[in-house]
Amino acid sequence: MKKLAVIAGITAASYFITKEIQTATNTFVIDEKDIELETLSQKHDGLRIAHLSDIHNQFFFKSDEDYAFAVDKTFRSNLAESLSKRNPDIIVISGDLFDKRRPHIGQGLEFLSELSTIAPVYVVSGNHDKTTIDGKESLRDLTHEKLVETSVHPLDNSFEFLDKDLALIGIEDPLHTNEHDWNEGLTELVSRVREKGAQTIILLSHRPERFYSYAQNAIDLSLCGHAHGGQVQAPLLGVLFAPHQGYFPHYTDGVYTLINPANSAGPKLSHMHLSRGIGSTNLEFRFLSQAHASILTLRTAHLTKE
Ligand SMILES: [Fe+2]
Repeated sequence: MKKLAVIAGITAASYFITKEIQTATNTFVIDEKDIELETLSQKHDGLRIAHLSDIHNQFFFKSDEDYAFAVDKTFRSNLAESLSKRNPDIIVISGDLFDKRRPHIGQGLEFLSELSTIAPVYVVSGNHDKTTIDGKESLRDLTHEKLVETSVHPLDNSFEFLDKDLALIGIEDPLHTNEHDWNEGLTELVSRVREKGAQTIILLSHRPERFYSYAQNAIDLSLCGHAHGGQVQAPLLGVLFAPHQGYFPHYTDGVYTLINPANSAGPKLSHMHLSRGIGSTNLEFRFLSQAHASILTLRTAHLTKE
């Protein structure tokens, strides 16, 4: 009798694990959030940003046999259709578009091209995009021209004004870049857009663990990825590990807020939206951290004055 109970328990656990892996890896959710920014002018109240991250070329397989947990082929079209229905004004991808384990770049570009018919698409690099192929060129450099041809806007260390007082800036992933130089680069980028009249600054950056730097630069909203919501979570314990944060990481997914520590020009509060992302890497699957994208609606905050 005991034996039977053990077998039944193992069978039930295996069923739950397999089912959860399929759901978390092969299906996605889109959540909608309002984010209040104190510097946002009234005319931009209601601006909708589709935030995607960490695609990792996830649904672009040569064949189903290539990977144990091949993603459903309708994933890509369902995702594009779901985003289109929500009418975003812009689409942003906060890094790790590609992954050297899945070299079918052409298919990845097709998806980006599909997205750019919905709204302008802005991207920055993640650590995987900056990984070199055979020790030569990085995926980012290999795809740069093709992204531009596909009407995608690469924003590594550059900016675009969405309006005269609203700037979208991007910083490259810090892989292979000295931390001091990377921080200087970010500060310089912020100064340049402020000089040009930006009141509200939205940053695309792959790394959430550098949120303090974003707040120090009085960035209104940073859009990040990299943590994958742990990618594989433990029941009851939650996220066990995230790259560059280590065990039991602080930044896993959702909205975080810091007080601008420099108390300089810009907002009092700096926000970060951290996406769990779409794809997976290393383990090739997700567990209790379902693939997801977000629609963020910007709102003008009405703060009470002290
Ligand atoms: Fe990633």
